[in-house]
Amino acid sequence: MKRAGVIGHPIAHSKSPRIHGYWLKKYGIAGEYQAYDVHPHQLRDEALRLRDAGLAGFNVTLPHKQAIMDVCTTLNDEATRIGAVNTVVFHPGGEIEGRNTDAFGFMTNAIEAHPDFDWRQNPAVVIGAGGAARAILYALKRAGVPEIRLTNRTIDTAEALAEEFGCRVHDWDERSAAVQGAGVAINTTSLGMTGQPSLEIDLHGMASDALVYDIVYAPLQTPLLKSAETLGYRCVTGIGMLLHQARPGFQAWFGGSLPEVDDALLETVLA
Ligand code: ATR
Repeated sequence: MKRAGVIGHPIAHSKSPRIHGYWLKKYGIAGEYQAYDVHPHQLRDEALRLRDAGLAGFNVTLPHKQAIMDVCTTLNDEATRIGAVNTVVFHPGGEIEGRNTDAFGFMTNAIEAHPDFDWRQNPAVVIGAGGAARAILYALKRAGVPEIRLTNRTIDTAEALAEEFGCRVHDWDERSAAVQGAGVAINTTSLGMTGQPSLEIDLHGMASDALVYDIVYAPLQTPLLKSAETLGYRCVTGIGMLLHQARPGFQAWFGGSLPEVDDALLETVLA
């Protein structure tokens, strides 16, 4: 029986066991996917223990996405460029490969929602400069976005990221001005999440066919997406990013072709 899992701290609220459990059942695979609460001090020991216990690999979530890179014996190109690992694959012989599938999840979700959207047309605005923003900046660059504007409450973090990925930094207080003429706006912060303040931003003045993407998925319709909808922009909810980022890992550990994101999976995860 093939086994995989997810490591994080805390881990109780991870949706990954539900996602992979759904696919194991759907595709009739005799496998197991478990959540492991791993304290940062134990990261290396636990990762090696899981390898030696015969796991095929695991997903990595907060706070380990960067620290796990030191445990990996090899990183694929995306993980190196993004600077974080969310998927680990154990190879025969003991090699520990770190990958990052967040950019894939981000872009696949957007393309599924709006297949005809032209990313090369107008500037994109990225709101927030944390871990999620890194994968999104990488994905936008790869999609050929002509200009990326980055805004973050803490400007130093934005500036460091802007240097790495080649973007223009806009002051947090000027975020509404930053969306002027933009074709894409993406919230990568936790603002708008249930229990958090909403992201205050005026979306007037974006391109008429603009796309607004919120990676927050609880609630699914965030205040940001509601205001985007009112203005007639295209909207992308965040849950699909979570579902799509899981697909390459599942394939790597359990075999077969890429598992599908279907309505029943969406219902299972949102339940
Ligand atoms: P993740 O890895 O999920 O992106 P993170 O690295 O903690 O999480 O990043 C959180 C992002 O949300 C950051 O851009 C953070 O801004 P700071 O760099 O200023 O901390 C942003 N964020 C969180 N709470 C915020 C708030 N109340 N107002 C504005 N930005 C906030």
